[in-house]
Amino acid sequence: MHVHYPQTDIIGAPADGLLPWLENYTFPAETRFAQPAYAAEVANVFFSELLRHGVTTALAFATTHPASVDAFFQGAQKRGLRMISGKVLQDRHSPDGLRDETEQSLIDSETLIQRWHGQGRLGYAITPRFAPTSTDAQLRGAGELAARNPDTWIHSHVAENRDEVRWVRELFPQARSYVDVYRGFGLLRERAVYAHCIHLDDADRALMRDTGAVAAVSPTSNLFLGSGFFDYEGAERIGMRHGLASDVGGGTSFSPFHTMLAAYYVGREGQTKPGLSLAPSRLWWHHTGGAARALGLQGVIGTLQAGTEADFVLLNPKATPLLARKTERAQNLEELLFALIVLGDDRVVDQVCIA
Ligand code: GUN
Ligand code: ZN
Repeated sequence: MHVHYPQTDIIGAPADGLLPWLENYTFPAETRFAQPAYAAEVANVFFSELLRHGVTTALAFATTHPASVDAFFQGAQKRGLRMISGKVLQDRHSPDGLRDETEQSLIDSETLIQRWHGQGRLGYAITPRFAPTSTDAQLRGAGELAARNPDTWIHSHVAENRDEVRWVRELFPQARSYVDVYRGFGLLRERAVYAHCIHLDDADRALMRDTGAVAAVSPTSNLFLGSGFFDYEGAERIGMRHGLASDVGGGTSFSPFHTMLAAYYVGREGQTKPGLSLAPSRLWWHHTGGAARALGLQGVIGTLQAGTEADFVLLNPKATPLLARKTERAQNLEELLFALIVLGDDRVVDQVCIA
């Protein structure tokens, strides 16, 4: 539900937290995507990695450069993949070579929507990076663009890190909360996907629920960057829809198994005591049918029901000696699914079928 293809090569970059990680690794790496050939090369590696790990659809950040979006969609089209992406909107608090220009950024987004949205299996996401790196004018323009194109996606980050939340409070003193900043600019609606959603209160969760916006839980990223723990109990209690995401390169793995295991650890920790023991079938659902539903793609992908598109994986539960022993002893489906979560990785993925 949330990943950055231009961050493929910066997996595992250590930093004290989100903001220094962005400044020291992420922004410099993304600056290189002005070059179309480089963007195409990384996109190719990214799609290969996704498929090796059995991931057939992703909602992905590109960079601010329109060429990075073209490279991504061309690669996806060549492979017949159902993919969603968009040009990142980022017109302040960003280095030269990455920062875009307000008016031009909106014109470029509109052009890319016309070029790519609904072309075969491709979809466009209007992508303000996060509130601190967009001016009010850019966020307002993004909201207007989203209103004019109601079946596009909106894709951003919210309430990931405490320093980030503090910064947003300084920049947008009129808003009740970080989530409320996006509401004010018309950026909460169906098909709006917000990564992280950690430092929320119940009013924020209710606002997400009532507008149809959804949370992309990114547990390996949140553990790696020390951002915090998604509150599964709060999300469930209020009815805020959510699904799973790798968030590479903040996240540490393309593997859904690794993501599900990290989500299990996070559920254990929780923000409530005692933590939850998330059911294996629920974790799988959040990476398949539940994620499809959260993206507004129910009935299209995510299940094996008749009439849906035939993207599926063939998994080998005996891929390693220990998995073979463990899965042989599984007494029921939950135990089998849990064994794959705890011990599985790309070696389990035997075949990947696209369309
Ligand atoms: N917030 C703004 N940009 C980013 C990003 O690239 N990764 C993560 N994890 N959080 C962000
Ligand atoms: Zn992210």
